[in-house]
Amino acid sequence: MSVAECLPAERTDPPGIDPAAFRLAMRELAGGVSVVTTGRGALRTGLTATSVTSLSAEPPALLVCINRSSSVLRVLREHQAFAVNILKAGHEDVADRFAGRSGAYGAARYGDAEWTELTTGMPVLADALAAFDCRVEAILDWHSHAVVIGRIEALASTGGDGALVYWRGGYRGVAP
Ligand SMILES: Cc1cc2nc3c(=O)[nH]c(=O)nc-3n(C[C@H](O)[C@H](O)[C@H](O)COP(=O)(O)O)c2cc1C
Repeated sequence: MSVAECLPAERTDPPGIDPAAFRLAMRELAGGVSVVTTGRGALRTGLTATSVTSLSAEPPALLVCINRSSSVLRVLREHQAFAVNILKAGHEDVADRFAGRSGAYGAARYGDAEWTELTTGMPVLADALAAFDCRVEAILDWHSHAVVIGRIEALASTGGDGALVYWRGGYRGVAP
């Protein structure tokens, strides 16, 4: 089914929007792939996310939308802190693990990648393109998802080239 088949010929106001049509159209939005990490030691966990968005530079803040049924959200609420790790081309295995696609859960998602920490103690991927260490500033529950606003306390950048983007249901490496 193509987007054209799914989308109504004339504009339809909600609630006339079919969720399947919404999902199909949203596949056209290319998104940078990050992993959101939280927790410590054997209880650390995390998820892959394309919903990370810059919120403000003064103060430095970002947001991420997390499904309220995600086990990660509970741990994030407990710690009131998380890190956002922007993945690079070549990190497809990390993205799949943190999306639960390999069956890995919780700390098992961290695999054999190299992890470090900055200020809050949340896990930071050593070779992420960039990483943001955040304190939770606010969580807005909105239907199926929670909008999590993080105040950035520290950041790191590797300056590596080649980003990892998700588009039309697949990973794409973006090189300069
Ligand atoms: C490319 C990609 C992007 C994703 N983006 C999000 C997202 O922004 N928010 C979200 O809640 N889940 C997102 N997911 C799904 C979660 O990564 C996945 O459901 C994960 O298993 C949740 O962790 P949990 O099973 O421990 O709850 C995405 C998955 C993929 C593959």
